[in-house]
Amino acid sequence: MAKTKTPAARASELREEIGKHARLYYVEDRPELTDAAYDALIRELIALEEAHPELVTPDSPTQRVGGTPVGELPNVRHEIPLLSLENAYTPEELRAWADRVVDRLGRTPDFVCELKIDGLSISLVYENGALVRAATRGDGTTGEDVTPNVRTIHAIPTVLHAAGAARKISSKVNIPAVLEVRGEVYFPKKSFAALNARREEAGEPLFANPRNAAAGSLRLLDARITASRRLSAFLYSIARWAGPQEPQSQSQSLLLLEEILLPVNPHRTLVSDLDGIFAFLDEWKTKRHDLPFETDGVVVKVNAFADQKRLGQTAKFPRWAIAYKFPPEEATTVVTHIVVQVGRTGVLTPVAEFTPVLLAGSTVRRATLHNMEDLSKKDVRIGDTVAVEKGGDVIPKVTRVVLEKRPKGAKPFAMPARCPACGEQVVQREGEVAMRCVNPGCPAQVAESLRHFVTRRAMDVEGLGDERIEQLREVGLLKDVASLYALTADQLAPLERWGEKSAANVIDEIEKSKDAGLARLLFGLGVRQVGEKTARILARRFLSMEALEEAGEDALTSVPEIGPETARGILEWFALGPNRSLLAKLRKAGVRMTESPGVSGVGGALSGGVYVLTGTLPRRSRDEAQAAIETAGGKVSGSVSKKTTAVIAGEEPGSKLDKAKALGVAVWTEDDLDRALGEAS
Ligand code: IVH
Repeated sequence: MAKTKTPAARASELREEIGKHARLYYVEDRPELTDAAYDALIRELIALEEAHPELVTPDSPTQRVGGTPVGELPNVRHEIPLLSLENAYTPEELRAWADRVVDRLGRTPDFVCELKIDGLSISLVYENGALVRAATRGDGTTGEDVTPNVRTIHAIPTVLHAAGAARKISSKVNIPAVLEVRGEVYFPKKSFAALNARREEAGEPLFANPRNAAAGSLRLLDARITASRRLSAFLYSIARWAGPQEPQSQSQSLLLLEEILLPVNPHRTLVSDLDGIFAFLDEWKTKRHDLPFETDGVVVKVNAFADQKRLGQTAKFPRWAIAYKFPPEEATTVVTHIVVQVGRTGVLTPVAEFTPVLLAGSTVRRATLHNMEDLSKKDVRIGDTVAVEKGGDVIPKVTRVVLEKRPKGAKPFAMPARCPACGEQVVQREGEVAMRCVNPGCPAQVAESLRHFVTRRAMDVEGLGDERIEQLREVGLLKDVASLYALTADQLAPLERWGEKSAANVIDEIEKSKDAGLARLLFGLGVRQVGEKTARILARRFLSMEALEEAGEDALTSVPEIGPETARGILEWFALGPNRSLLAKLRKAGVRMTESPGVSGVGGALSGGVYVLTGTLPRRSRDEAQAAIETAGGKVSGSVSKKTTAVIAGEEPGSKLDKAKALGVAVWTEDDLDRALGEAS
């Protein structure tokens, strides 16, 4: 009985139990305890340690709980870069890769097949058995220090000796003085579902998939929140092993990691030929759905390190490994409705709603049918059984109709002649596939334009989310974009879920937005054909709204980046009465209609610099990054030369990164870019 034990003995017993059950749950996926029983063990240990603080050990599972938030995640340089993998999408591509390997080696080597875990790569450093650092991959050379967050992941031991003792292995393995291991942090499917359920209840936006959720959670500045999210991890490679028994192959590495109780995915195999690889693919093609985590493919690695060394690497990838991606998944379901949505620019989009169906790990209920052309090509009708596919991205699409299952009498879908939101006649312009509602007062459009107007990239009014906009529209305070500037704190404060402080803040933000400048205003107004980049070009060229309003087609198309279609969109927008009166109202409210030199690029923070983008940045799309650089006066170029000021590298950078390094050109992360732009928070 616990009661008869000394507190010290009970504490150590609890730690051992917790360690064992954490492994059973997170690593081996055969839990013996319910979540509640596991939590009860942790609570008992916390209580015991609170009563006897001298019993707290650094490796106690209670010490995982995250500390206070940090201001910004510090950067970490990886001594050994984290490489990425070449992808194969078909068995033929995989075979071609294997053939090249065999050619280069002059014989068929052994291969290790592992599941490709769909998460976020991390690198862990243990010194004398203690976890001292955990970093994200970043651009492969520089990552972010996420040590406090990773310490909250129960699958990752914070002390290696202790883990060994817990299983009482008279381990043949000595813990190396320095161990750097790489792997993947991921969200177990179950925890992901629970997290999204909690978020839904709290009215927070849902994560699209476990991978995004894992990335978001790991990079949180507040490790206490990371701790509440039950992430897990699998490790798959040893980058440094400073000690005896250094591994000589991939299969040995995985066994060693298992010996010292690090989490290694058990589903793997060592094969001696291609048939072995294909058998593994076949096995997991379907079985993967029964796993408690997401996997999007299989990683095949040449086993012996000597062979890996001989094969070497290309500019981007190691030649000794490849990631085979499972084909996109398909499910069939029945279309229950086709609804028509009205977007910000009045475009009508048909959306198919169907009987909820499980597809690649999440439930899908709807998919866009893009436009009438797409819809009629596929001829999707209400009642149809359709195939829905989800590829690498998370947005499902309808790929085809299962015609044999079409119910008798199902009629082709016709777009409504009138806007479903305002009842006005819809129009289809010559040469355009889109059907539009051209009523600028249409409530659906107004709501969408308000949402767009206040976004960060447009007028950047913080504190006005979708819900508040909806609320203000309902109570009649927001009728159009201009009515934002008539709002007062006294009107907002008494409303539900507002208060004096939030009202004052939002009014401040609105006031501040008056000075956003012409480029942001043009983008925010949603002038047809004018995206962020075009808005900047126009602002730089015409410098004031007045000059732009007066510009004819010739003046517009004389700008190299503006084609006739864009020019027509702009002219039509300015010709519409409601748009003109909207501009007049904004002018009267004191919204600046000119571009300041700083924003137009001249004398901006990056003025005179030439920048090259490569890879996927964590927060901005390529266009957004380019827009940000150009707005600050920098130039974006497609190739690296000695004249390049810096290469801004994201995930999976291309050969531009190597070239930058070879030429000694500075390499920036997106955070470096933010700092240069003066946007770092
Ligand atoms: S090995 C040089 N093994 O997939 C070899 N990667 O597409 C580096 N990943 O960045 C990676 N499961 O984040 C390897 N069993 C596995 C993996 C795996 C998932 C991720 C990893 C890598 C990405 C490449």
